[in-house]
Amino acid sequence: MATTTAAHTESDWVRIFDTTLRDGEQSPGCTMNVEEKIALARQLERLNVDVIEAGFAASSPGDFESVRRVAEAARGPIVLSLSRTREEDVDSALKSVDKSARPGIHIFIATSDIHLKYKLNMTREDVLDAATWAVTRAKKHLDYIEFSCEDASRSDWDYMVTVCTSVIAAGATTINLPDTTGHAIPEEFGRMFAYMRERVPGADKVIWSAHCHNDLGLAVANSLAAVRNGARQIECTLNGIGERAGNCSMEEVVMAMKTRHDLMGVQSRVNTRQIYPASRLLSQIIGQPVPANKPIVGDNAFAHEAGIHQDGVLKYKLTYEIMKPEDIGIPSNKLVLGKHSGRHAFTARLKDLGIDTDSVDINRAFAEFKALCDKKKIVYDDDILALVTEEARRTVDHFELVDMRVSSASSKAMPHAEVTMRVAGVEKTAEADGDGIVDAAYKAIYKIAGIQPALERYAVKAITGGTDALGEVSCLVRENGMTVAGAGAHSDIVTASALALVNALNRLKGRKYQPLKPTTDVP
Ligand code: KIV
Ligand code: ZN
Repeated sequence: MATTTAAHTESDWVRIFDTTLRDGEQSPGCTMNVEEKIALARQLERLNVDVIEAGFAASSPGDFESVRRVAEAARGPIVLSLSRTREEDVDSALKSVDKSARPGIHIFIATSDIHLKYKLNMTREDVLDAATWAVTRAKKHLDYIEFSCEDASRSDWDYMVTVCTSVIAAGATTINLPDTTGHAIPEEFGRMFAYMRERVPGADKVIWSAHCHNDLGLAVANSLAAVRNGARQIECTLNGIGERAGNCSMEEVVMAMKTRHDLMGVQSRVNTRQIYPASRLLSQIIGQPVPANKPIVGDNAFAHEAGIHQDGVLKYKLTYEIMKPEDIGIPSNKLVLGKHSGRHAFTARLKDLGIDTDSVDINRAFAEFKALCDKKKIVYDDDILALVTEEARRTVDHFELVDMRVSSASSKAMPHAEVTMRVAGVEKTAEADGDGIVDAAYKAIYKIAGIQPALERYAVKAITGGTDALGEVSCLVRENGMTVAGAGAHSDIVTASALALVNALNRLKGRKYQPLKPTTDVP
């Protein structure tokens, strides 16, 4: 197994540890299949993150497989798997990354008394032994070992000094102090880092890391407070997805360090121009639109509505803009291509937009682009991004939408849909009436697919302006306790709705692995 050595000096660089594929994926409706995880991991590589937490190998065969595939695919960043302190977890995590160019493992156990008593039923001595044992075992096989004191922000600081001292002696190279419950306040969270770094022998030999949840909306502020007190790694997710209110948002924390470098004096190595494509890709994959007011990547993040602001920005951008949209990779949304553009120009534009053209069926995407040019007067960068992600979604499908005809309600008839789909390559047609044309189309699709999951959410968004805009539909469906999202984009909103449902059904079908054992103690 190849080994990696962590940098052991404090510097002005803050490592970005992305856990979108692990902590992010754990949140309801954010599940991804292996292909989607690989597509996202490739984008994380383009972003130039330092570490990718690819999953939790021991939690299910599906997770193990995802970590293994991501570890093979992403050659630049360190790729690691989460692991409890159990022997089977450590061994499974080590095995899952053994083909990685830069493998790592992330071992955690809770250190707060509340977790010890009610969740683990272990004493402080038991936890100390388990942590030291697991790190020692992993260290026999690889060098890059992160250790986390889960629920650090509610743990006794002196007890954590004991645990961290022991795991560093056993070979941990990164110590992570998570605010697991999003309970911390910046000032106190920063003080905890200062306290630990002052008292733990060998503190200067390891990287100190912050992992914050956003329950009080303070995840970014807490992470920055940790950095101001010596942390040199931030754990975060794209769009801030994650358990409950989410994790520290990568785009926010990275742009805060970049924009306020004057004050912070530190920065990340993230290629910020890849932030917007990454945010969009994730949103498309999990079928969850980014809220319009989301800092950095929301639709309104750079929109100036008030006349006085518009006037100021027109006179001099910096009157109201503290960042440049182009630094985040936000498309300029000018007319970029038209019906006379060739395949070459189309491919070049995709590359400019940060799309990995090797992972796209260019012939199909180009044909779709031409069809869109016939329908739409203006094709924007955002349209192209939506079209390509739509294209990527369709490549690994069991169910495929072939054709659809709908008719709206009249005085004589209910809304009606006739849908044709390919199911594992075989064409099938069904008809249905409904409460509206989307409802009719969905009923016909359920007939063909032979399943009818509960539709928990359905949302429509216009990607660009105008009545001919590409519409993006996202939905959330639930069956047998499993919730998956689907997304679809098309200039016809009923077709976009059907594509979203078909996408969700494919993802339900793809989730063939169930967790082997209950993972209730997963943070
Ligand atoms: O929130 C948390 O404590 C975690 C740890 C596993 C790092 O996700
Ligand atoms: Zn977490």
